[in-house]
Amino acid sequence: MRDAAPTTIYLKDYTPFGYLVDSVHLTFDLAAHATRVTSRIAFRPNPEASDKTFFLHGEDLKLIRASIDGADITPEITDKGMTVVTPDAPFIWEAEVEIDPGNNTALEGLYMSNGMYCTQCEAEGFRKITFYPDRPDVMSTFTVRINGDLPVLLSNGNPSGKGEGWAEWTDPWPKPAYLFALVAGELIAHPGQFTTMSGRDVELNLWVRPGDEGKCDFGMEALRKSMKWDEDVYGREYDLDVFNIVAVDDFNMGAMENKGLNIFNSSAVLASPETSTDANFERIEAIIAHEYFHNWTGNRITCRDWFQLCLKEGLTVFRDAQFTSDIRSAPVKRIEDAIDLCARQFPEDNGPLSHPVRPESFQEINNFYTATVYEKGAEIIGMLKRLVGDEAYSKALDLYFLRHDGQACTIEDWIKVFEDTTDRDLSQFKRWYSQSGTPRVTVSEDWNDGTYTLTLAQHTEETPGQSEKLPQVIPVAVGLLGQNGDEVRATEVLELTEAEQSFQFTGLAAKPVASILRDFSAPVILEHDHTDAERAFLLAHDTDPFNRWQAGRSLAQDTLLRMILEDATPGADYLDGVLAVLRDGELDPAYRALMLGLPSQSELAAALFDRGETPDPMAIWTSVETLRQATAQHVQDLLPRLHSETLIEAPYSPDADQAGKRSLGNAALALTSRLDGAAMAAEQYAAAGNMTQQLSALSCLLRAGKGEAELSTFYVQWQHDRLVMDKWFALQVGMASPATTADVARTLTEHADFNWKNPNRFRAVMGALAMNHAGFHRADGAGYALLADWLIKLDPVNPQTTARMCSAFQTWKRYDADRQDLIRAQLTRIAETPDLSRDTTEMVSRILN
Ligand code: ARG
Ligand code: ZN
Repeated sequence: MRDAAPTTIYLKDYTPFGYLVDSVHLTFDLAAHATRVTSRIAFRPNPEASDKTFFLHGEDLKLIRASIDGADITPEITDKGMTVVTPDAPFIWEAEVEIDPGNNTALEGLYMSNGMYCTQCEAEGFRKITFYPDRPDVMSTFTVRINGDLPVLLSNGNPSGKGEGWAEWTDPWPKPAYLFALVAGELIAHPGQFTTMSGRDVELNLWVRPGDEGKCDFGMEALRKSMKWDEDVYGREYDLDVFNIVAVDDFNMGAMENKGLNIFNSSAVLASPETSTDANFERIEAIIAHEYFHNWTGNRITCRDWFQLCLKEGLTVFRDAQFTSDIRSAPVKRIEDAIDLCARQFPEDNGPLSHPVRPESFQEINNFYTATVYEKGAEIIGMLKRLVGDEAYSKALDLYFLRHDGQACTIEDWIKVFEDTTDRDLSQFKRWYSQSGTPRVTVSEDWNDGTYTLTLAQHTEETPGQSEKLPQVIPVAVGLLGQNGDEVRATEVLELTEAEQSFQFTGLAAKPVASILRDFSAPVILEHDHTDAERAFLLAHDTDPFNRWQAGRSLAQDTLLRMILEDATPGADYLDGVLAVLRDGELDPAYRALMLGLPSQSELAAALFDRGETPDPMAIWTSVETLRQATAQHVQDLLPRLHSETLIEAPYSPDADQAGKRSLGNAALALTSRLDGAAMAAEQYAAAGNMTQQLSALSCLLRAGKGEAELSTFYVQWQHDRLVMDKWFALQVGMASPATTADVARTLTEHADFNWKNPNRFRAVMGALAMNHAGFHRADGAGYALLADWLIKLDPVNPQTTARMCSAFQTWKRYDADRQDLIRAQLTRIAETPDLSRDTTEMVSRILN
């Protein structure tokens, strides 16, 4: 049933659907292998559409009957849906189809997970439930009746009826089909309550499988905080009587914002101190906020078509980042986001998968739920806010909600509210949505008689399908420091709009040191030939916490590159700078822990490639190990005291304060383990009272080549807990030495608990393999071959997760000819697999080209 030549969909071809939908009534008769879905849908011609073709999407559906205004029809059905002749007047469509959720391993549409029915419809899964115009610009109210012999039967909206073996739900808010959801199973409610700003009571529930009741408190609290925050900061109130969240073990992504019924990967909502790390807690809090915030940015205002995905995702990621900054630490969050952007978005933007934040074509939309659409999309909102100012930003947002509530919108609509509130012409700014590739900003300086001149030049490399790049609007936040470390010019946002531009600062007593791109004010690569001494100065004195961290990061990167290219020894500026930061008890522990981080090995490979060098994964690995060892020795005296940060008297709390202390203490433990044979880590492991302490101790032991016994006791302790077992699998691969990574991963795939059809477990092993840079890139290609074997095996079962993981190969052209040959051979082998899914076909062909 696969297409011979996959079709490409283009943004420029958009036309509205010929019909409007006034109401949708669905009845589900649940049965694992023969669920009946009966639909009754009121259509009427769309006066604004010229094309009146009545095409309904439908895939993998067995049509039982269909009728228009009560008269049976026998439509011709293709593997994509059906086209029917309809009256040129309002009419009622009715259909009954049969589907097989029990055999739906793709986890798209209606499927089963541990005996529970659940759905995932974004982006185009509703067409696997019934025939429908499955496109986001077709919106309707839905009434859903579920018949099934299960205690909990949920759908979107408010409950409107209930009896033995059935329940009915009514969603009064018109929505596109991708926001439809249904859940049925033996679930337990963890209840909560929220009173909205206008005094309405909302019933909250977090639905989990029996056994997971103890992992709900944190998620519920995060939901309540999110609801309050969206009222306080954006004036957005919740709009239904109930809000349900369901945790599901088998899920392709993190979570889904279905109206009133969010469905979560259990890893993105279930948390307890014993089973979750501090990082897990922070991520869960952010995802709960993200999905909740979609209620306004995504649901009340949705996307006209899937090319506009960043309209809801970029904005909602930006909003969840604001939330995290507000309730935790803003500088820490900013640094974490910059690390994440460099690690995931930059490689995408600078490789074969590069695409604009608003793509112009696709074959499979699921392949565009990317770091570019989400994270670069969020950075664009951040730049816009910085350029227009906070006040104009809130005015524009108020107008956006007022003007577009209930609509399916475009990026043009979004830009227009900013133009209308600020009277600015944003046409050049809009290039951020259409131009792919990461702009590189080069800095040069001049000092002359009290005047400091900063010249900034921008350049973006050619990307697939885009050879010509025009200058973008780049907000560059700059501050100037005097020789004694005082700030002589406070932060100012320079607007770089031309290919090259100079900015003057007059009346200065001495040549300043410039702190450029403060707070990471734009998602660009800054090329600034600072000397080590200047970087060390900024590391010691920068008043901008982000750039202070960045100075340390650049020092680390420069010393690592010199170690790799020139066989240099670890630089004193870096080592002394880190020592000084660690000594500074005034600095937030979380921030000091981040200061101890190094650029990832993959980033170092990118940096080498940028300099025209061919990265050698083993040389990179060795440089990192050597620098770590040297750092451990250099800061040795401080380590016991830093590690004692983790000895917190108060009961465990995942809050930023405690988490920051544990993060610094565990960074110290990792260094200590390089000096004491991981003796202290073994002690910490034995005494650990929470997963953060237990897991970081275990990772130190494994890195030191120890921990055999602990791995077994960990397994015995946690084998009943799927989420903890994911960590057990991932950690072994992640901590394996370069020579053994592929073998460790292969052995784990033979483990009885390696349930490869579960995306979390598959990713635990295969994702960790791809992330272990030197291990994955082992010279004999064993890592590549193992990943390719498993991608080929998973593709017919779950194309979405397979396609996503193909991106592990996206950086292949950075490496030497032998590795390129090995990777090309694996990509070709995947591409030539018979009946390869559309998802994976598109990814592999883009990567190969
Ligand atoms: N809209 C979801 C979010 O909050 C992502 C769902 C995407 N799922 C998919 N199969 N493409 O970001
Ligand atoms: Zn989202």
